[in-house]
Amino acid sequence: MYLLYGIKSCICRLEGKVALITGGASGIGEATVRLFLKHGAKVVIADVQDDLANQLIASLANSDNVSYCHCDVRDEKQVEDAVSHAVTKYGSLDILFSNAGVLGPITSLMDMDLKAYDNTMAINVRGVAATVKHAARVMVEKKIRGSIICTASVSASLGGTGPLPYTTSKHALVGLMRTACHELGVHGIRVNCVSPFGLGTPFAVNAFHLEASELEAHCCETANLKGIVLKPRHVAETVLFLASDESAYVSGQNLGVDGGFTVVNRSYDSSK
Ligand SMILES: NC(=O)c1ccc[n+]([C@@H]2O[C@H](COP(=O)([O-])OP(=O)(O)OC[C@H]3O[C@@H](n4cnc5c(N)ncnc54)[C@H](O)[C@@H]3O)[C@@H](O)[C@H]2O)c1
Repeated sequence: MYLLYGIKSCICRLEGKVALITGGASGIGEATVRLFLKHGAKVVIADVQDDLANQLIASLANSDNVSYCHCDVRDEKQVEDAVSHAVTKYGSLDILFSNAGVLGPITSLMDMDLKAYDNTMAINVRGVAATVKHAARVMVEKKIRGSIICTASVSASLGGTGPLPYTTSKHALVGLMRTACHELGVHGIRVNCVSPFGLGTPFAVNAFHLEASELEAHCCETANLKGIVLKPRHVAETVLFLASDESAYVSGQNLGVDGGFTVVNRSYDSSK
């Protein structure tokens, strides 16, 4: 019995914590919702895909600990309401996973549509800024030593891995994260990014008109780390680490979940 109790308390790394997850209806966000619930957190999903989010909640065993709030991150009022929803429903906000993002149209810079550029920036940068602003206000007011995690990308460190607006937005996100890390450190709040390599989620599958398996096969070909297919749960495990007390002194980091892709120059092989 004691042994079982010990195992349970080891497993629940977010017991008593409240998390807000943007883009939580699909892909990396969905995998993180599932993992956070397993680890004892109460979770608010903020997304624009109402039906998908409600289907996800209906599929979860511990549905009392999860709720949905329609939130388009481009609208600051909706972001503020999503943060309030978490506090009203569960009494706190310990973790923000600001993950909602779009790839935008796949075009060359010379064919770029600047309206689409604005939309990508509005979701991937301004939207994240709004979530960090309102989550931080609550954390500071309630003296919560919270953890904020933003989803960046390998495109936050490298050119040539995505269209210009996307790459620009993810580079900007690292600056946003570092500035928030500086300003919020005095309040004991940690701010980090996770930066995944390519995954077979709707985000990229829809943009490239490929099946998830085809996209994964392409990613595996170009990946640095062989013998493993990157899945949303691998990213979610990294987010869990950054959300939990196991990373208590980690802040200001852009943590790659990329199998080393961003630190290796594949155009040069010194063994040849
Ligand atoms: N899939 C990849 O290859 C990959 C690689 C690196 C980084 N990322 C990043 O991961 C994050 C999550 O993407 P994913 O791969 O899980 O894709 P996904 O499409 O499965 O999930 C993205 C979610 O964001 C939501 N969303 C989009 N616009 C929104 C808005 N305006 N307001 C609120 N929610 C909105 C979508 O409805 C969706 O549920 C994104 O920030 C993306 O840039 C993805």
